[in-house]
Amino acid sequence: TTTTNATGHQGLHWSSRWAFIMAATGSAVGLGNIWKFPYITGENGGGAFVLVYLACIAIVGLPILIAEVLLGRKGGKSPIASMRDLIREHNAKAGWVSIGTLGTVAAFLILSFYSVIGGWAVNYVGYTFSGDFVGQSSDAVGGIFGSMLADPSTLLFWHSIFMACVLFIVARGVKSGLEKAVTYLMPALFILMVIMVGYAMTTDGFTQGVNFLFNPDFSKLSSEGVLKALGHAFFTLSLGTGVMMAYGSYLDQDVSIAKTSITVGLMDTLVALVAGMAIFPIVFANGMEPSAGPGLIFVSLPMAFGSMSMGTLIGTLFFILLVFAALTSAISLLEPSVEWLEERSGFNRLTATLAAGGAVWFLGIATVLSLNVWSDVHPLGMFAVFEGKTIFDLLDYITANIMLPLAGLLAALYVGWVMKKEDVADELNMSQGALSLFWNVTRYVTPLAVIIVMYKSIMG
Ligand code: PFF
Ligand code: NA
Repeated sequence: TTTTNATGHQGLHWSSRWAFIMAATGSAVGLGNIWKFPYITGENGGGAFVLVYLACIAIVGLPILIAEVLLGRKGGKSPIASMRDLIREHNAKAGWVSIGTLGTVAAFLILSFYSVIGGWAVNYVGYTFSGDFVGQSSDAVGGIFGSMLADPSTLLFWHSIFMACVLFIVARGVKSGLEKAVTYLMPALFILMVIMVGYAMTTDGFTQGVNFLFNPDFSKLSSEGVLKALGHAFFTLSLGTGVMMAYGSYLDQDVSIAKTSITVGLMDTLVALVAGMAIFPIVFANGMEPSAGPGLIFVSLPMAFGSMSMGTLIGTLFFILLVFAALTSAISLLEPSVEWLEERSGFNRLTATLAAGGAVWFLGIATVLSLNVWSDVHPLGMFAVFEGKTIFDLLDYITANIMLPLAGLLAALYVGWVMKKEDVADELNMSQGALSLFWNVTRYVTPLAVIIVMYKSIMG
């Protein structure tokens, strides 16, 4: 139904709280949970990293998720336009609009490499379906992954296919259809992962895998690892990009922002932990390295699919569902740029989508080349923090560990220090106790945690 809310936002409102949860979960659950979480956990030593990551979700991620949805619903427009209105209403400094602009740029940069990895997943649907992994050794499975990375034209082809799907969905506005599909596809993906955990239990790496994930050894965690855990909390919950603000602008006034946000956060965390429990036992059972990097799931899971019964069917389904999960995140990543172009240049929806998507696709070529011909190009290598990083590494590092935390920090500061407590109370509509908990955490705990972690790891 088309409605106009108190702030005058024209458009479609979520028919129910559930529809918002599905769209927000569609954005949150993606490659971040199934591809990135396991491999950065592997690179950062396991349990201690997971514990810090969970603390970051609770202390930083959930409060900022609530803050961003609140700002979005109060503003009722695109993130940048909402911030402009709120700034006028609160008589605040114009600089706060950077919550919107910083996020829009970050989302644009993220999509450029997200699409390349999404392309790997599309390619793996074909590999699994053709039975390429059946009965193969881990060396052979690693070889298949390695040859894919070494070949720019293969990577470019699948990156282009993935971006074409994103553009088709965003331009045609079939998002509502996709969001309905999420209602079935997300649970299906979850069930398949639980089946994978079941398989993992039958391998002799299960105890070692679960220990690796949940038995913290703090000597393995560096201060840079802590920053990565924080950055991943933002990335995995789609924070600091304006995406959750944009979705919040469609949320009805009578829906509880806190309960809804916590549901989304819990589902996202659950998917990441189940992914870890499926992957690490397989890694250890096959004598692979947990610190193998971005290829971790593209080598360990195919090993499992190649040796379990019905592995070809289960594996093909798994990668199809992974592609859907990646697509629902990718469309949310393109949306801020498209909206900005529409507002700024007066382009219609189709032109804005093609322009923003074309630019993202073009930038994606840098990530494609980082994996092969430019693998020795380290543009910011003169700075210690960026030493040895390819363009792909830099895009990932700078967005997740710097831009998202900064934009999220600003959102928390805006809600906690610019808005009045009564305004926030009106929006959140919670019990006194819950409200003062949220208020104190958002004003003090969350900003301090972000500032300390960023300062410690960047300043050394
Ligand atoms: N949250 C997504 C994931 O975990 O895969 C990635 C993402 C989507 C990040 C949207 C940021 C964003 F705005
Ligand atoms: Na996620």
